[in-house]
Amino acid sequence: MEKRLIRIIAVLALLTGITLGENSFERNCVKCHQELPASLQEMLMNYIQVYSGEKNTKAALFHFMRYPHQDTSVMSEMFLQSYPVKAPLRISDEELRDAIDVYWKKYRVIGRLR
Ligand code: HEC
Repeated sequence: MEKRLIRIIAVLALLTGITLGENSFERNCVKCHQELPASLQEMLMNYIQVYSGEKNTKAALFHFMRYPHQDTSVMSEMFLQSYPVKAPLRISDEELRDAIDVYWKKYRVIGRLR
């Protein structure tokens, strides 16, 4: 009985560790983007160049993830020919905002150096 309890606790601890280690950015963005030739870092730099400033950039990202469109994309025409504009993300506003916050925090320093 006691052994079983210990095993259950060990499994629970492991599962919590796994979920805590992943944030909404990793959960919702990274896996799919790993397949693409342009990095998420380059994409954020494009956004900062076009929109500049944290507030504008985040708002633009949020809007694009909801309503992706060729005309509002910051990617080159050539890139979009090989990788057509993606489908809108089906995650909650809160989850999307969280993901964009992490995305910004993770890469904006490099964006600022330009
Ligand atoms: C199902 C796959 C997939 C997921 C999930 C995904 N992306 Fe993308 N993303 C793409 C593809 C494909 C492109 C290139 C085509 C395009 O620009 O829409 C792209 C383009 C982008 C761009 C450039 C947009 C532009 O102006 O064209 C940014 C920035 C970006 N993704 C960020 C994110 C973030 C942040 C998340 C998570 C909240 C995310 N992506 C989730 C596939 C995905």
